[in-house]
Amino acid sequence: MAAMHVLHGLPGFDWYDGCFLAKFEAARRMLAIVRPGESRRFAAAFDTLRTRADFEVRRVHNVLPPARFADFLAQLRAVPASSLHGHERGDFGRRIARDLPILAELQLELMPLVAELAGEAVEPCYTFLSLYDGAGTCAPHLDAPSAKWTLDLCLAQSDEWPIHFSSVVPWPTSDADGNVPATTAFRSHSLRPNEALLFSGSSQWHYRDAIPDAGFCHLAFLHYHPAGCADLVRPARWAAHFDMPELAILDAVFETLRPDRRQ
Ligand SMILES: [Fe+2]
Repeated sequence: MAAMHVLHGLPGFDWYDGCFLAKFEAARRMLAIVRPGESRRFAAAFDTLRTRADFEVRRVHNVLPPARFADFLAQLRAVPASSLHGHERGDFGRRIARDLPILAELQLELMPLVAELAGEAVEPCYTFLSLYDGAGTCAPHLDAPSAKWTLDLCLAQSDEWPIHFSSVVPWPTSDADGNVPATTAFRSHSLRPNEALLFSGSSQWHYRDAIPDAGFCHLAFLHYHPAGCADLVRPARWAAHFDMPELAILDAVFETLRPDRRQ
């Protein structure tokens, strides 16, 4: 009953990857009802997934030595078309391949660099090969904290295609309605092939306008979360992690009521 009550009163969080915050806020609100003494402890456990307020986007030049980058591109071009698909939540105008072994290897190799730039120990999470073609676009959104840190590596492009980032913001869990606050200021960054940006997509709103002149932009997204947080970034593990069985019930009710928001 408490789960139904909480979920019916929940804000939308209706942006790409908004499901994590919806589940976090639902759990926090439900615990305030059924375990009033535990709600604050539950929320505080997630502090490590929040991003420090003074973090700014970091740029990496020459991610790989030139000859190795050329070889890396050749290996990616050999990825069979059957590994790519264009179906995902949100309309990005792209084809993607998730968790290719070649990207997982690079993700592990670059983990020490990402940790240094992020200022904390990290673990690899998932990867995307993301091939934006003429219809490419990316509406404003926040990522789930499984991608607290993203290294966005440019592979090839027809022209520079800016990505726009807000500064670090608190998680919008109190009155989120799916819109970026009108007062949010953005800074633009462009990449060239073999350059990368490290950003904190779970605390920085980010977007791209439509790709210019129906061109193309091929990117690799390497995602990381803080070390030791594998349970926290996966809502399905919260019940066991916190030894709170009611969180499993909440997750099941959430999936039933909002099947469109499955992670
Ligand atoms: Fe994102």
